[in-house]
Amino acid sequence: MKKIPVIIDCDPGHDDMMALVLAYGSGKLDIRAVTTVAGNNTIANTTQNALNVLHYIGADGIPVAMGYQDPMVRSHKEQMELLAASRKKMRPQAAAPATGITGAAVHGKTGMDGFDFPESNPKTPADLRSVEMMAKVLRESQEPITLIATGPLTNLGFLIRLYPHLLSKIQRISLMGGTSEFVLTRQFMEFNTFVDPEATKIVFESGIPITMYGYDVTYRVLFNQSTIDRLRALGNNTGNMVADLLSYFRSSHNRSLSRLNLGDTAPIHDACAVAGVIDPSVVTDVRKMHVDINVGGSLLDGATVCDYQGALESLPKNVDVVYNMDTERFLTMLVEAAGACK
Ligand code: BDR
Ligand code: CA
Repeated sequence: MKKIPVIIDCDPGHDDMMALVLAYGSGKLDIRAVTTVAGNNTIANTTQNALNVLHYIGADGIPVAMGYQDPMVRSHKEQMELLAASRKKMRPQAAAPATGITGAAVHGKTGMDGFDFPESNPKTPADLRSVEMMAKVLRESQEPITLIATGPLTNLGFLIRLYPHLLSKIQRISLMGGTSEFVLTRQFMEFNTFVDPEATKIVFESGIPITMYGYDVTYRVLFNQSTIDRLRALGNNTGNMVADLLSYFRSSHNRSLSRLNLGDTAPIHDACAVAGVIDPSVVTDVRKMHVDINVGGSLLDGATVCDYQGALESLPKNVDVVYNMDTERFLTMLVEAAGACK
């Protein structure tokens, strides 16, 4: 069967790592490029993490293009400080110290703590930067490309502004971000949409079809110890690497969000946005609605305001919001993909 052509825009990040393993190991996607953005860590580290993962799983042929450190109009450092301050307000005891630069509370100092990749990695970033790489792939493609976005939407915002004539080549954007009903990071907030609210607004108002995998679904589709055991039982390098990283992520995530009482389970947010592209039937509940993005300079910046009751009849239903997936099928996809890698 013909592979689906995609670009993956990410900020690895443990769950971005899982998204890359799923995308590559599934054998169903033609990954034309991986582009990076700062989010879970600095752009230098998220790019290095992407290179490490791709090399380790045997995907050296996929070009990696480095993107932006700062959001379109804000500074990454300021957004992180704001995030830390608002977390402190919500949960003074649980709040991690503000590092000023990273999502270190969950993903560690490197953005992907918990596994030591071999130091020698011949893979380096492409000469082109992320947005140029995206434009090149779109320009040269005979068929429409699906964009999978698992980090802040800075690169996509710039792509839309700089290359409007190429946008008809985008089939759909499948993104991890936002939330309709869950209230987590800050009020109504999710990390990716919070980091670059202006880019998020540009993307959501672009008219490009969007499927949104926000906290509504990612906190329903959880892995547990038996998933880690299945990954280890694969016996290959990738299975062990993924098992180590998911174990690290589960403990740091659950420590920093202890009020969620997740026990031995945790989400793998970003992999959801890949799974639905590989096999749309894994999505069991999706609803089309108008989604507006808040950027007004308040505590709610980056909020995805979802009209899930259909009150705003005159506004376009611009987003397919995913609410549920088949958890068993999803986890099996992850394990099988890891098993198909090196
Ligand atoms: C999102 O933020 C990051 O921590 C994860 O990689 C994911 O993309 C979840 O809010
Ligand atoms: Ca991410």
